[in-house]
Amino acid sequence: MVKICCIGAGYVGGPTMAVIALKCPNVQVTVVDIAEQRINAWNSDTLPIYEPGLDDVVKKCRGKNLFFSTQVEKNIADSDIIFVSVNTPTKTQGLGAGKAADLTYWESAARMIADVSKSDKIVVEKSTVPVKTAEAIERILTHNKKGINFTILSNPEFLAEGTAIQDLYNPDRVLIGGRETPDGQKAINALRDVYANWVPKERILCTNLWSAELSKLAANVSHSIGTDSRIGPKFLNASVGFGGSCFQKDILNLVYICECNGLPEVANYWKQVVKVNDYQKSRFVNRVVSSMFNTVSSKKIAILGFAFKKDTGDTREAPAIDVCKGLLGDKARLSIYDPQVTEDQILKDLSMKKFDKDHPSHLQPASPTSIKQVSIVSDAYQAVKDSHGICILTEWDEFKKLDYQKVFDSMQKPAFIFDGRNIVDAHQLRKIGFIVYCIGKPLDPWLKDMPSVA
Ligand code: UDX
Ligand code: ADP
Repeated sequence: MVKICCIGAGYVGGPTMAVIALKCPNVQVTVVDIAEQRINAWNSDTLPIYEPGLDDVVKKCRGKNLFFSTQVEKNIADSDIIFVSVNTPTKTQGLGAGKAADLTYWESAARMIADVSKSDKIVVEKSTVPVKTAEAIERILTHNKKGINFTILSNPEFLAEGTAIQDLYNPDRVLIGGRETPDGQKAINALRDVYANWVPKERILCTNLWSAELSKLAANVSHSIGTDSRIGPKFLNASVGFGGSCFQKDILNLVYICECNGLPEVANYWKQVVKVNDYQKSRFVNRVVSSMFNTVSSKKIAILGFAFKKDTGDTREAPAIDVCKGLLGDKARLSIYDPQVTEDQILKDLSMKKFDKDHPSHLQPASPTSIKQVSIVSDAYQAVKDSHGICILTEWDEFKKLDYQKVFDSMQKPAFIFDGRNIVDAHQLRKIGFIVYCIGKPLDPWLKDMPSVA
């Protein structure tokens, strides 16, 4: 029986390993993590992440061929294939701060593998990492352990949060990069055999290490600007801003790579993508403030949605964080509701500095128990009650189906709605009496007449 160990029980490691366990009954999969709380949650009825369909998959396999454990060393030593799916946040200090990926977690995982391995291992790079990381990791492994054969593969993950299980069931492609040596090819075949349990052979693309790493970065970046005609119209929906753990980080990585390779003009080009995304968020805040008579001081504003997109509880780089901070800067009172994000997480996000939050929780500052001017509620109707305005910041389906007449009746007048995801029926809402702003759509006469919109 092939034994797989995955280091990192997060948004990538958890769902990916659960699906591998489900589709490969002959493979034993153990997901390990240093965060005890997270592992406990994976072993409980309340999983640490929300992802449609994930509960079912975990229930079917857990205890059979899927295990979650904090025994990192033992499980690494026992396995044949090790996936590394630890976090790779953007560096906050030192060389490349604010751009380059922080590979501390990756490096410590690699050193741990070197320390505890007693047999040959295939080590699979799963997190999105800067190009050429595989080579660096290869060096750490081979220099720290003589006599054991480590073969490195790059197998970038293309799943998107919120649709992770479907993406894993039916991937557009599985990319496996490895060395063009006999050992490299053998390792590629071993991993290909795992995926071949459910993925058609022609969708499993095998290439070299560098190409696999670069493809992932480039695919994410081209998604983010949505200008590649091959991607099609699915990714051209205007929003209050893109978020998530990948896009900004990958663009900043690219900026760093360009700068290191003497291409400052190209670096500047990519920097602009992040700048425009930041501008989009501050523009939204300005629109809210200027529409409401240029002040939101002490006004209650309902925030519907905090996750970076629907069907996930993940808030990494969520545009809601910057929008809420902007409104709080103008002294608004916020009443926040999201179906999946916890109160603790929201308070943490609103009190934390940029980039801190992608680090493991034990390294993060403690979350405050409350923030003046912010209340977090468990229902959309409670959030909007007595508010002057509503900001929709995540496209959750339940916000499309609210009884907007009831919402309107419970609000202060004039009642404003700022739809940052274009999900409401603006025509219908105007009939009820709302003043409506939708991203990228023509303005209500009311809003047009308001001064000083950025
Ligand atoms: C992304 C990539 O799509 C995936 O291939 C990669 O493996 C990881 O990064 P993810 O971060 O889960 O996935 O979310 P994605 O669906 O790509 O959305 C990213 C952000 O862009 C979200 O904040 C989303 O709301 C926003 N977005 C997306 C838009 O604003 N408009 C769109 O049309 C699409
Ligand atoms: P992603 O979205 O890439 O899956 P997450 O932050 O959700 O990122 O998950 C990464 C996980 O990796 C975290 O739960 C973190 O505790 C874990 N991790 C980081 N370093 C190590 C390590 N050396 N050993 C085990 N787990 C680690």
